[in-house]
Amino acid sequence: MPELKINGVAVEVEEGATVLEAAELLQIEIPTLCHLKGAAPQTSCMICVVKDAASGRMLPACSSKATDGMQIETECAEVQSARRDILNLLLSEHVGDCEAPCSRICPAHLDIPHLLREIERGNVESAAWIARRDLAIPRVLSHVCPAPCEKGCRRGEMDSALTIRTLHGAAHSADLAKRLPPDGSLGFKVAVIGSGAAGLACAWQLRVSGCSVSVFDEAPLLGGPLREIASLPSEVLDAEIDVLRAAGISFKAGASLVGSFDCVVDSAAEEHKLVVKAVANGKAAADAMLQRFAVPPVVESPSFDSRIGKLRESELEQLAVNCTSDLSNCSDAGREAARCLHCDCRKPASCRLRKYAARYGADAAEYPADERVHLQLLGKDGSVVFEPGKCIKCGLCIEIARRVGESLGLAFVGRGYNTRVTVPFGEELDAGLRVAAKDCVENCPTGALAFRNAEER
Ligand code: SF4
Ligand code: SF4
Ligand code: SF4
Ligand code: FES
Repeated sequence: MPELKINGVAVEVEEGATVLEAAELLQIEIPTLCHLKGAAPQTSCMICVVKDAASGRMLPACSSKATDGMQIETECAEVQSARRDILNLLLSEHVGDCEAPCSRICPAHLDIPHLLREIERGNVESAAWIARRDLAIPRVLSHVCPAPCEKGCRRGEMDSALTIRTLHGAAHSADLAKRLPPDGSLGFKVAVIGSGAAGLACAWQLRVSGCSVSVFDEAPLLGGPLREIASLPSEVLDAEIDVLRAAGISFKAGASLVGSFDCVVDSAAEEHKLVVKAVANGKAAADAMLQRFAVPPVVESPSFDSRIGKLRESELEQLAVNCTSDLSNCSDAGREAARCLHCDCRKPASCRLRKYAARYGADAAEYPADERVHLQLLGKDGSVVFEPGKCIKCGLCIEIARRVGESLGLAFVGRGYNTRVTVPFGEELDAGLRVAAKDCVENCPTGALAFRNAEER
């Protein structure tokens, strides 16, 4: 039986085992994109490259047999640099937005397309939770925010931007109790000094994480600089503070810090005349505090963000197939939300291209393409959507469809750079994936194949 070393650790494997299988025995992760357990290696992506220090060769771990005396390095600088280069090449022809342009622009990073989809579906509770979770004071912001998100909304290039600010202002009252962890469940008592937008957002973010939170403000009225904004009715501000109070945050107006706390956050220092920026500052202060105590953030900040940039008119029309056409059961807010093009990716959390791009610091601009590939959405009427611009041509979907015995299945057509996945005889996507759809979507390493109504977060 061959005996080799991986990252200095000895391992013995069955004759014929691959380097990837040997690494799995040691629970060492090697990234893969085109590998499918039990199938012949595709060896098309090369992201699994490792170095054999004994021979000085770089090898694809998924297809290279483990042999006696190998000294495999899975994460040395040379390997990391090769993987970065591979990812840069893959990304140079990638057409996809991990995050929607509107969410990127929002300083508080409201998950706008998800919010809009929930409004469109009539899921009032869920929409209200997203607005509250991300904005802390969504109703206040609906009165005072200049809505930079709307200026970046792609729908504005077709007719008019989504009225995002109005929609999140209306989606503010949720039954928070069932969404929040028990007060103090994290075991931290935190004091926040200042009750302006930054202080409120910081307190809210800490409460969502399970801290027990007390807000102190020396002024007799809570709200800090928010009280001075003429366009903000005081009853709206009071109602928002009441929501946070009902969520378990304790407020002490006209009071200096008293009592003993595990941590004190002086968020008044973080106020900003742009209220949504103050909210973002407050959330960042809370995340920084939680990080010091090794608590994961409420919402992971985007790791890598593929960006298409400006879309052509015909591409906007492609995206418009995401808009719901049957609005008969929609409320007014639902009708408005249904205009959203859903610019964000359907698989932002499970996409391995994104995960590895973040891990290895990939940069799509490293190999700029002469002309960007056209954005396309196929499978408009079925349950599965195929976006050729996100396909890395790994061939897994073709192999899976073949293995499960799809009568039509999928196939590659074209040559070289122009190779693409298609359904034979020009049939619709659902006809090619009658039984293999779930397997294909789950194993597709990117957002190229996804279920239309996937809500992955
Ligand atoms: S169309 Fe929807 S997802 Fe796209 S930018 Fe506008 S609000 Fe955001
Ligand atoms: S669509 Fe098929 S070939 Fe393209 S990335 Fe997904 S699994 Fe691979
Ligand atoms: S397929 Fe992956 S990298 Fe591409 S837009 Fe979607 S999440 Fe981002
Ligand atoms: S070449 Fe090994 S996973 Fe793609």
